Amino acid sequence: MLIDSHAHLEMKEFDGDRKEVIERAQAAGVDFIVTVGTNLQLSRKAVTLAGQYENVYATIGVHPHDVGKIGNKTYDDLKELAGLKKVVAYGEIGLDFFRNIAPQAQQIEKFGEQLQLAKELHLPVIIHDRDAHDQSLEMVKASGIHSGVFHCFSGDYEMAKQCLDWGFYLSVPGVVTYDKAKTIQNVVKQVPLSSLLLETDSPYLTPNPYRGKRNEPAYVVQTAKKVAAIKGLDWEEVAAVTAQNTLNLFRIEVPSNK
Ligand code: NI
Repeated sequence: MLIDSHAHLEMKEFDGDRKEVIERAQAAGVDFIVTVGTNLQLSRKAVTLAGQYENVYATIGVHPHDVGKIGNKTYDDLKELAGLKKVVAYGEIGLDFFRNIAPQAQQIEKFGEQLQLAKELHLPVIIHDRDAHDQSLEMVKASGIHSGVFHCFSGDYEMAKQCLDWGFYLSVPGVVTYDKAKTIQNVVKQVPLSSLLLETDSPYLTPNPYRGKRNEPAYVVQTAKKVAAIKGLDWEEVAAVTAQNTLNLFRIEVPSNK
């Protein structure tokens, strides 16, 4: 089994050929795709896609870039979406102190509110942390939520250990295939496979040898192969274990025909 634990199929980059993208993933051996909402409108679209495609699951939430769009009714609308079928997590939420598209104080406030909402909804969380390692981890710990994943993990081994001690998974993107990505390669080498998920974050972060093209879920195979090479394992084993980790985190029950 193989799962892309984090893609953005709802984004406009896939409007022209979404069905073909999903079919190519299936043909490449990707059993499930978790498509991740980044604001209310795209969360709705993600949930709709999960209703249309058997192998797609959805998450809901507001990305740190988009927190300026949160209005009076946004959280009520997200709560309603959370009750729908195949919604498996809250996120991606967090802090992005690299791009700083929303002011940092606003990011912190909305991240805190959304962690509380996720807790109330009993959903695992998907954390976006860019150049905000200490503060992201601190806020996760303060929330008391022990079920979640640091997506596109970009911390070092010290931070990885803290995330694992807290009960979180780390998600490995296609970045791991880049020659210069020594930090994530070192983390992958040192942490147990039982703590890792694989993701594309498509349409972004295209792995080698496709770098420069739009990313898509089929390419998660490249990430599985790189993780396998780093750990000295068969890639099928990496695929199977990380898929099971994903099913466990998101409490997905595999339909009996899989
Ligand atoms: Ni993402």
